[in-house]
Amino acid sequence: MNMNQETYMRRALDLARLAEGDTSPNPGVGAVLVYRDRIIGEGFHAAYGQPHAEVMALRSVRPEDQDFIPDSTLFVTLEPCCVYGRTPPCTDLIIRERIKKVVISCLDKSPGVNGHGVALLRDHGVEVIEHILQEEGEYQALIRNVFVSEQRPYVILKMAFSKDGFVGRAENQVNLSNPGSWRLVHRLRHRVDAILVGTGTALIDNPQLTNRLFWGNDPIRIIPDFNKKLPSDQAFLHDKGPTWILCHKDPERDPPPSQQVIYKVIPAGTDLPGILTYLAKEGVTSILIEGGPTMILSFLESDCWDEAILSTTDRFLGSGIVGPTGWTCPQDRIRIGTDDFDWFRHPRYLRKCDPTG
Ligand SMILES: NC(=O)c1ccc[n+]([C@@H]2O[C@H](COP(=O)([O-])OP(=O)(O)OC[C@H]3O[C@@H](n4cnc5c(N)ncnc54)[C@H](OP(=O)(O)O)[C@@H]3O)[C@@H](O)[C@H]2O)c1
Repeated sequence: MNMNQETYMRRALDLARLAEGDTSPNPGVGAVLVYRDRIIGEGFHAAYGQPHAEVMALRSVRPEDQDFIPDSTLFVTLEPCCVYGRTPPCTDLIIRERIKKVVISCLDKSPGVNGHGVALLRDHGVEVIEHILQEEGEYQALIRNVFVSEQRPYVILKMAFSKDGFVGRAENQVNLSNPGSWRLVHRLRHRVDAILVGTGTALIDNPQLTNRLFWGNDPIRIIPDFNKKLPSDQAFLHDKGPTWILCHKDPERDPPPSQQVIYKVIPAGTDLPGILTYLAKEGVTSILIEGGPTMILSFLESDCWDEAILSTTDRFLGSGIVGPTGWTCPQDRIRIGTDDFDWFRHPRYLRKCDPTG
């Protein structure tokens, strides 16, 4: 592996992450333009509808460096697009600028792209090098690639455990995590299009489910309420944030309590994968499942998840509701104050180990 290629791709990935949570339904993408081991341009896709990373990188080149563009190498975290979306194809721009070499991390699985961007560039004599920091690039583009190739939102499970393995009490809300952890959770909320909780959590915790401790928008709050359990005084039914109540067709259901609450009618008998397909059709590309344990278990049993973020806090509850068990070998672990966060990826994303070592 060429170390310089990795270094520049790492810079492009860092740039891509600057717009985390802002680009949906597009992925965050970063680009770096390098001439003789010097970065002469860099940029990232900042928001849906805004110029793509390649455009921003080229726009950032100073007048005195413009002549170097054709002899530079363009590093992009994702395959350049070759279709018209809200902006023109980036492959046109690369060809027009006569850039001779493009290095990418992974393919864009979007319809019409998915290898065609690379093929088009090669047809025009551009040298394309693929798979540089592929694993990191694929993770960066994963929400988008899961959404377009599987027509479902990318699913993140999140749950906090007390030191003795409980997740809450049946009679009242308990706070398990420390304020530093709340901020991380709000950052997660910023990263996704929607948050989902079960009616049990809604009834016991009466949560706000907004992003108050990190910058950016509030995600849509989604509550499946097929058995009409939600009382009308729930906090999230009366603030300004968008809320979707998933329900079955029922002429006797009261009208939504406020303008930002929308009933989404789902046919009776729709299973969890079916609900996710429905949400994808409604434009939800990613969803954070914030509990409770029955809902999390439901996603686990249906095998409908991509990542799980579980924290173990320093509180002892002594008794209470037990959370889903059996989590082993986290892919990563961080500590925030007194809370340990374990990060799991679905086994489908884990590299197959060679048993011979
Ligand atoms: N520690 C944490 O991270 C955390 C997070 C959230 C909540 N909690 C705690 O968890 C407790 C509540 O837990 P819980 O298990 O009772 O509540 P829950 O998981 O929030 O809600 C359970 C309800 O969700 C619905 N549900 C589950 N699977 C479903 C599916 N596949 N499709 C549609 N609906 C589905 C069912 O509602 P219907 O019966 O109406 O069908 C079920 O009764 C509270 O004490 C709360 O404080 C802890």
